[in-house]
Amino acid sequence: MRIAMIGTGYVGLVSGACFADFGHQVTCVDKDAGKIAALLRGEIPIFEPGLDDLVASNVKAKRLDFTTDLTGPVAEADAVFIAVGTPSRRGDGHADLTYVHSAAREIAAALSGFTVVVTKSTVPVGTGDEVERLIRETNPSADVAVASNPEFLREGAAIRDFKFPDRIVVGTSDERARKVMGDIYRPLSLNQAPLMFTARRTAELIKYAANAFLATKITFINEIADLSEKVGANVQEVARGIGLDNRIGSKFLHAGPGFGGSCFPKDTRALVKIALDHDVQLRIVEAVLGVNDNRKRAMARKVANAVGGNLRGKTVAVLGLTFKPDTDDMREAPSIPLVTGLLDMGAKVRAHDPVGMEQARKELPDIEYCEDPYECVRGADALVIVTEWVQFRALDLDRIKSAMAQPVVVDLRNIYRADDMAAHGFVYESIGRGV
Ligand code: UGA
Repeated sequence: MRIAMIGTGYVGLVSGACFADFGHQVTCVDKDAGKIAALLRGEIPIFEPGLDDLVASNVKAKRLDFTTDLTGPVAEADAVFIAVGTPSRRGDGHADLTYVHSAAREIAAALSGFTVVVTKSTVPVGTGDEVERLIRETNPSADVAVASNPEFLREGAAIRDFKFPDRIVVGTSDERARKVMGDIYRPLSLNQAPLMFTARRTAELIKYAANAFLATKITFINEIADLSEKVGANVQEVARGIGLDNRIGSKFLHAGPGFGGSCFPKDTRALVKIALDHDVQLRIVEAVLGVNDNRKRAMARKVANAVGGNLRGKTVAVLGLTFKPDTDDMREAPSIPLVTGLLDMGAKVRAHDPVGMEQARKELPDIEYCEDPYECVRGADALVIVTEWVQFRALDLDRIKSAMAQPVVVDLRNIYRADDMAAHGFVYESIGRGV
């Protein structure tokens, strides 16, 4: 199969490289000439474990190519994937579809022979209809079917998630398009991944509903964590105790400082807006957004309480800045409201992140960045673990303690045990562990 992938952001680049690895002929297209030039030099613009090798080997095998001009790749393609960004529109929280619409028009003008145009970007329900309308308006004689094929991969685990998905959802009623999409995903049938065909609007809603449900699950366990602290229970055991029930499932029940990232906050906000446009109020999802925002802001207060209530003149060491491990992504990271809150309360902040410091400097310019965890904690009155990077799971606790001014640790990811920390002489606060 010949595939044109429009957009070399997270989803576009990972999907393009993985499709090429399946044996398809893939051209990734992006308007950003600097990005394409870098990719042609073998430089990967995002941090994703394994992606550099995957891109390099498929470029070498001549299955993967990059260009700024979509004309040739679209004309030759069996399927054209739209994987451009859909950021939150400033002001109203709706998804901004400017890039999707302009991609649709440009693709339309270049189509040749039967082609499936597939939206992979997360788009509001009904976007496929609009993409189809724009294509037919631009090129009335185009032989085209428009499908929705939402992506469920996670940053940091993107390649594995793409190659071993729980399911593949394809929304189209067009039989020829179903055949093309079936052929594209055939290599995954070896991994037993169910390929689920639905109507286009259903596929579009599945993506938002999945992200909103996962965000709800996290927010639920976060509230249970708050209650656990008050009643003397342990949220990790509660999570395990409920998660072993197959109807609930054990994943996405890790309590923490609130969810962040480029997807959950944006997609839950967009889903609420989509529903309101159709006179439906998604009260649960609205509550999830409100609870999560408050939670992220409350984390600075939790740190202040751990050092006795007053942060003025105190130094706080922050380990982990990205919204989760194995990414350099700072979008909506819990570290941002946390650090801002600490600074507002008069603290001095020193921080370390294994890969995210360059991105973090743009969001948090007024703090001191340190090259390793031990330098970061030097002279600190409190250490806050914000992101559960594997590098932070086995710190030399004696070394940490002797470098700090006060041995206070606030572990917002529950990666240490309270009894261990006490044995090392730390004042230790974590999330939802009242026992
Ligand atoms: C999420 C979904 O998990 C993917 O399925 C989806 O494809 C993606 O959004 C998307 O729409 O593109 P991602 O944002 O990369 O993926 O990261 P997650 O691993 O889902 O984490 C999101 C946030 O939830 C992070 O801040 C993480 O720390 C938090 N989280 C996750 C928890 O606090 N507790 C958990 O148990 C799980």
